[in-house]
Amino acid sequence: MAGQQPSGLPVPEGTKTVTEGQATILHQGENVFYNPAQVINRDLSVAVLRYFVKQRREEIENGTLKAPRQKRTPAEAIQLKEAGGAEGPVQRPKLDENIRILEGLAASGLRSIRYALEIEGVKRIDANDLDEAAAAAVRQNLELNDSKASGLVRPTQGDVRLAALQNPDGYEAVDLDPYGSPAQFLDTAVQAVSEGGLLLVTATDMAVLCGNNGEACWSKYGCYPLHRPYCHEMALRILLASLEAHANRHKRHIVPVLSLSIDFYIRVFVRVYTSAEKVKDSASKQMYVYQSSGCDSFFTQPVGRKSPKGKGFKFAPGHGPVVPQQCPETGSGWIMGGPFWSQPIHDQAWVKGILAILEADKGNFQAYSKVRGLLTSASEELPDVPLYYNLHTMCKTLRVTPPGNSTVRSAIVNAGYRVSGTHANPLGLKTDAPPEVMWDIMRCWVAEHPSKKPLDPDSYEGKLLSKEPKIQANFARANGAQRSQHGPRVPRFIPNPEANWGPKSRHKVARWDASEGNDSVPARTSAPEQATAIANAAGEGDASIDTAMPEQAGTVAEEKTKDDKQHVT
Ligand SMILES: C[S@@+](CC[C@H](N)C(=O)[O-])C[C@H]1O[C@@H](n2cnc3c(N)ncnc32)[C@H](O)[C@@H]1O
Repeated sequence: MAGQQPSGLPVPEGTKTVTEGQATILHQGENVFYNPAQVINRDLSVAVLRYFVKQRREEIENGTLKAPRQKRTPAEAIQLKEAGGAEGPVQRPKLDENIRILEGLAASGLRSIRYALEIEGVKRIDANDLDEAAAAAVRQNLELNDSKASGLVRPTQGDVRLAALQNPDGYEAVDLDPYGSPAQFLDTAVQAVSEGGLLLVTATDMAVLCGNNGEACWSKYGCYPLHRPYCHEMALRILLASLEAHANRHKRHIVPVLSLSIDFYIRVFVRVYTSAEKVKDSASKQMYVYQSSGCDSFFTQPVGRKSPKGKGFKFAPGHGPVVPQQCPETGSGWIMGGPFWSQPIHDQAWVKGILAILEADKGNFQAYSKVRGLLTSASEELPDVPLYYNLHTMCKTLRVTPPGNSTVRSAIVNAGYRVSGTHANPLGLKTDAPPEVMWDIMRCWVAEHPSKKPLDPDSYEGKLLSKEPKIQANFARANGAQRSQHGPRVPRFIPNPEANWGPKSRHKVARWDASEGNDSVPARTSAPEQATAIANAAGEGDASIDTAMPEQAGTVAEEKTKDDKQHVT
């Protein structure tokens, strides 16, 4: 029997429907792509776009967002002269408060329909897909929904790169949600976003971005990734740097407002502005990382420097190297990663604003708890500390049982440094404490909790533990060290509802698809760290650590043997 939909239209017999947020679509099996796990991505994007519409409207009203002055083309200048016009300033076009959205890789159109029905202040949504079946599905799905959706969503079929450039006025928001890598779509996308507009980009090629294929990452994103515990944040920073590089070629630059590593993918939200002047800052917004090949120590180095000179600024290459020839802890060599984005990856006002939008309409968002956890975590991150340590990989390097996360956090604060968690890893510690202080804290911990195993003085752990600590760590509970003191006691890491909550294979007929294989990494591993994290959380009453773990990069202890062993003395 055919069923009835909210629009009153019948559903073809034997076809299932899916409802997410305010939208309903037909489930077309393998013919058109649909991944229920991406509800988190879609919920998050609805909330971010709602905040963007509100924010942009305020900026237009108070004059902080203006269309850039367009230079007259030579033909326009001649026309003006012939007409006897004065050579006065070029008028700025008035910005429309309502927004046009391009969903360049729309598949079923679910996301576009949700945008139409759940976001106020939308003027038009172009739901584009290369695949004929997908474009047909968007048309069919529009029929199932409130007529507001058909009034706003315009289904188109073609390559996203052409779609992006075919609207000369651009789009206030461009959404890229491809299979695998978005790299080949970035250049046209940064051009298609109107002034101060929002670019929303998903990347699921985490194996590439997290350093399993460094050379592939270099060719796609122009960065050498490192497969180290911080690789999920590094992946975000690689994508941001790549977006900035593409924008710079068109005298534009990006301002990240939210950048999240979620289960099996990353999603970034950046605003795009035009300014030849600001493009000069770009090198000073990138950095390299020197990673010890023998332990978890790492040091960062800016690519470029910007310093005041007279009334302006001077720009110069970064100073370096910031490290001695050999790792001070283990005597091993370094591997170098980068360049990647060094500046904040979120705008905290946006994070708070998006959280408020989510709270105010929680019934609409199926993935409310997950998104709230991610945003709460992001709101607590130290904004000026790129990358993080993983306590458990440090302990693996030392071959000792890990202390509780909050015990080490306290020792860091008691030593006079700042510390926070990271949304990208429940065991991650962001801190401005240098590696020697982190190792001193661990040395003091091991001195109080000695291992029964004999120590080989030539091993990395032997070298690390044979040094006398320069500071005496104080593990007493410190104010400001506990995660829950930074915000409400909400669970930060929410378990996923199903076992195979991860990437889905491509739909059957995308034979023209320009992107390469779906080189995603699995959503999660059953890392042994999970158990300890949960135990830590329970033992220390830390509500912030939950059971879901992002995929853990290979530990330094495992990786170090692979990397330039010849440097080890
Ligand atoms: C991961 S799906 C998109 C999912 C969708 N955004 C959602 O939220 O459900 C990727 C889609 O990109 C389409 N695609 C692949 N290459 C494309 C291209 N060059 N231009 C436009 N669409 C493309 C595929 O046909 C597929 O439907």
